[in-house]
Amino acid sequence: MSRVFSGVQPTGNLHLGNYLGAIRHFVPLQDSHDCIYCVVDLHAITQWQDPAELRANTREVTAAYLAAGIDPKRAIIFNQSQVPEHSELAWIFNCVARLGWLNRMTQFKDKAGKDREKASAGLYVYPNLMAADILVYKATHVPVGEDQKQHLELTRDIAQKFNHDFGVEFFPLIEPLIMGDATRVMSLRDGAKKMSKSDPSDMSRITMTDDDDALAKKIRKAKTDPEPLPGPEVLDAAGKVADEARKARPEAYNLLGIYGALAEKELSTVLTEMEGQPFSSFKQQLADLAIATLGPIGGEMKRLMADPGAVDAVLRDGAERARERAGPILKECQDIVGFLRP
Ligand code: TYM
Repeated sequence: MSRVFSGVQPTGNLHLGNYLGAIRHFVPLQDSHDCIYCVVDLHAITQWQDPAELRANTREVTAAYLAAGIDPKRAIIFNQSQVPEHSELAWIFNCVARLGWLNRMTQFKDKAGKDREKASAGLYVYPNLMAADILVYKATHVPVGEDQKQHLELTRDIAQKFNHDFGVEFFPLIEPLIMGDATRVMSLRDGAKKMSKSDPSDMSRITMTDDDDALAKKIRKAKTDPEPLPGPEVLDAAGKVADEARKARPEAYNLLGIYGALAEKELSTVLTEMEGQPFSSFKQQLADLAIATLGPIGGEMKRLMADPGAVDAVLRDGAERARERAGPILKECQDIVGFLRP
């Protein structure tokens, strides 16, 4: 059975993009793959985190995994810092990856901002840790949103260079799984910007714990344009919205994409249903749908977060099982590198 690995950072404000782009795809993979889902706290501290908030946010991501339908008996759920094998392999990868490769990472440029000199060294080598997360389990499939694609290409480069340098076929070349029509959910306030945990405006994102009133209000206030909704003629032969059309009406296509993902309908079906409607009636339908689909997940997350002992027990059990898998792979890798284990 091939192995799936993915992770989410416990940096707060878990949002609809995280859910539609990643977490909801983790659930059905449990039926067909050996799945390992991580709360990546080592990644979170590449930017400042308040310790008490980090603990709370680690439980929040765990609660999101569980509330979304991941079964901790079948899949492994754990937090990264409990499995030191990730950091140990990351060091080896720090010595495999080239500076030139890391210099090309757009996420580092975005997150470091203008004052790069003040970014942590951890933020710079972050993609090497990400490669270690995946390869310490020899996972082959990685479900993520569009923004992680470049990091996964780097993971392939690292695996290839390691195998080549040491003359082995040890690490697999991973397959990114970037699935569905909501692989890049945009901000509700600006259709040109990605929905993100760090946007200063809470109105820019739908969070996974928003209650019904907040969901309705954020959708009602979402930015739109004055035209009625388009129909299926905007789709090209591959069933996609052409880049030009999307650029002209980014907010409209973002909301239509969110609707399709929540309703589990093809974009062509959504466009046929909504063609010619004004935003006011479409937004009402979107709000009802969001309340019906996200509401129960947010409610279950809050219930779980009120019982931190139960959440921590899931993480403890998961970490033990994760170490059983990672330990032997790391040892074999250390032997290949030439580390003496007397
Ligand atoms: P993170 O915590 O930023 O995001 C978690 C997941 O959510 C996806 N995502 C989105 N999808 C659609 N639209 C959006 N606006 C949106 N924003 C975020 C992300 O693509 C991701 O799948 N580096 C990773 C965490 C990580 C990881 C890994 C992932 C660490 N190690 C190993 C896979 C494998 C990150 O920062 O995700």
